Amino acid sequence: MPNTSFIGHNIDIAATLLKKGEAVAIPTETVYGLAANALNTSAVAKIFQIKQRPTFDPLIIHLSSFEKVYDYVLEVPEIFEELAKKFMPGPLTLLLRKKDIIPDLVTAGSPYVAVRIPSHNVTKSLLDMVDFPLAAPSANPFGYISPTTAQHVADQLGNKVYYILDGGSCDVGLESTIIGMSENGDIEVLRKGGLSIESIQEVVGNIIIRDISSSNPEAPGMLTSHYSPKVPLILTDLGQLNKVSDINRTGIISFRNFLPTIPTKHQIVLSPSGNFMDAARNLFKGMRYLDGCDLDIIYAELAPEEDLGIAINDRLRRAAHR
Ligand code: TXA
Ligand code: MG
Repeated sequence: MPNTSFIGHNIDIAATLLKKGEAVAIPTETVYGLAANALNTSAVAKIFQIKQRPTFDPLIIHLSSFEKVYDYVLEVPEIFEELAKKFMPGPLTLLLRKKDIIPDLVTAGSPYVAVRIPSHNVTKSLLDMVDFPLAAPSANPFGYISPTTAQHVADQLGNKVYYILDGGSCDVGLESTIIGMSENGDIEVLRKGGLSIESIQEVVGNIIIRDISSSNPEAPGMLTSHYSPKVPLILTDLGQLNKVSDINRTGIISFRNFLPTIPTKHQIVLSPSGNFMDAARNLFKGMRYLDGCDLDIIYAELAPEEDLGIAINDRLRRAAHR
């Protein structure tokens, strides 16, 4: 294992390491991923080891284009073809019946594999240079906030990966939306994410949102307590927050407005103009920043429950769960 990893822009180095069966951190438009050759079980095992992730939690595979999906899955429902046409590449992941070539370790034994086509240019070029899909979870230690810059990855996994491919700050800032189909053909959202539920509904019509929690961990990565900062985070109506025990040790995450009573350096305003995309982009970055500020508590308010506000609120609720 390396002592410290190297952050760089060299796609060749990343491709070479991946071909050798190493794990490499890669940028995507959603969050940074920790990638390895999805067809190589021992390479995939390194991901679980580095992240300290339980092997019952399956991984998404990343492909350079949707045409390639037929090499790895048995069938694609027609409605998923339509979703792919409209939203891939992008922050959407589809659950599809896997072919045997995908190792069981990738899917945690499930007959379904999660497939995503990232739109980030650097990772598109990288995927074009290798002849295998990349299995990649978010590049954070299991349970912590997902990274949205190369430095975030280095801060936590820096001594565990050889190379972090730097592609700048993630554009979307939230993980992909995961969609599956039930036995009876219903379209289900297994994880709310960077593609809004409304835009998926425009294509598929009715959609079922599965409320997955730790008592019912069907998509195991969706354990209730996830994305958690180390400082306790409490959801509250900031308008009603009149007395805090120590204003210098209190952090705030608000959707639009600063609070006059708390030092501004401890306040993350997700989007002063109320723009959901800006707010999504700033959420994990802001949570991480406040987590490093030596605070006793973080108070956060929910965004309006629509558009990307739905995924933002999902992450805030999970971060708040103790
Ligand atoms: O945006 C994203 O999706 C990022 C970037 C790197 O692509 N990846 C990501 O991976 O968020 P990860 O591992 O942190 O979260 C993926 C989640 C898993 O925790 C699991 O809940 C679900 O996707 N998942 C993956 N494969 C699955 C499967 N075969 N069946 C059910 N759920 C699956
Ligand atoms: Mg994750």
